[in-house]
Order: sequence, then C-alpha cells, then structure tokens
Amino acid sequence: MLGENFNELIRKELRFFTNIHWSEIPTIQLTTDFFKKNDAKNVLDIGSGIGKFCIISALNSNIHFTGIEIREVLHNEALRISKIYNLKNITFIQADVKEIDFSPFDAFYYYNPFCEHIAVENWIEKNDFLAEEKYYEYEEIVLNKLEKMKEGTLVVLHYAKTFFLSENFQLIDIKQNGELTFWKKIK
Ligand SMILES: C[S@@+](CC[C@H](N)C(=O)[O-])C[C@H]1O[C@@H](n2cnc3c(N)ncnc32)[C@H](O)[C@@H]1O
Repeated sequence: MLGENFNELIRKELRFFTNIHWSEIPTIQLTTDFFKKNDAKNVLDIGSGIGKFCIISALNSNIHFTGIEIREVLHNEALRISKIYNLKNITFIQADVKEIDFSPFDAFYYYNPFCEHIAVENWIEKNDFLAEEKYYEYEEIVLNKLEKMKEGTLVVLHYAKTFFLSENFQLIDIKQNGELTFWKKIK
C-alpha cells in the first residue's frame, strides 16, 4: 500500500498519539477497499486528525477525501503532510463537524472522533471543551445528519461501540473482531 511510511512524516510531538488516535494501515486498507468496491466518490472523514486516513486512502484510490478536524494544530499537520505527497484528491477543513453539510458526500469514515469527551487518560490535549455530555450530544448530531442522507450512502465505523445507526442502514461486513463495521443506507 502506498503511504506505509506515513508515521515517519508526522512531527515528533504528534507522532506520540499514533497508536491510539490515528488509524492503522490494515484498517485504512480495508476501508479504502470497501469504498472502492462500492463505488464511493466523495468520502468525509469525521475528525480527521493529522490526516492519516485521508492521505493514505487518497494515495491508493481515485476517490476524493475530505477531512474535517476541529483542532488547528492537527489540521495544519494534515495540510503539511498532504503537500509532501502532492495530492489532488484531498481537502482538509478546520471546523467543528456540527457545522458541516453532509449532503455533498456519499461515504463517511467514523473513527470514534468524540472519545476524548469520556476518556480517563490518553487525551490528545485535555481542555475545558471536553465534557461527558458532549460525547452523547455529538454522537446524536452525527447520527441525525447520517439519517438524512440518501439511499446507498456508505458508512464505516471504527471503535464506535455506542454509535448506533438506525434500521435504515444495513450491515454489509464486519472485520477486526467487530471493531470495524461496514454499512449501507437502504432507505
Ligand atoms: C480518533 S481521531 C481519528 C483521526 C483520523 N480519522 C484517523 O483515522 O487517523 C479523532 C479526531 O476527531 C477530532 N474531533 C473531535 N471532535 C471533533 C469535532 N467536533 N469536529 C471535528 N473534529 C473533531 C479530534 O481532534 C481527533 O483528531
């Protein structure tokens, strides 16, 4: 897979979070394969961090990837690394996901973006914004946005144990002992 040396490109201070917060290559590969196989055109990574998922997936497909990240320092790192690869099929936006219009997208990647609100350790940065109730509020916001998407929309969930898609989504496949699930909206 192209981009397997990605971790070496991450600034040292942000590389520390790799094992917990940034997707691993096998997960990225399985997810990219699913999106390719199901003809995804425009994927949104909800909480894109330093851009690892978007960049490696973009390197290995013709799909367009958009990463939305709330933290400026992570967003800037994603921009910096994507420039190294000179990628054209990628966009990074610094914003809160609740402000994002989902309608241009036909596929979504969701790697437990709100986990820091309920974490007891291993925060990327502990700050006053983090609060348990926000974890559930944000999950609800994203679930509502996905519910409005049209039939055929694809969703891949990674470590999303409390994120329950409605019966309008069909489970297409399960990998990594249930930690990676593949869904399609059927109505
Ligand atoms: C577990 S990391 C996943 C990073 C990336 N998707 C990957 O797979 O490598 C989740 C990211 O979501 C970001 N995040 C948390 N809340 C957010 C929000 N409300 N809007 C946008 N991004 C958010 C965090 O800052 C963190 O970088």
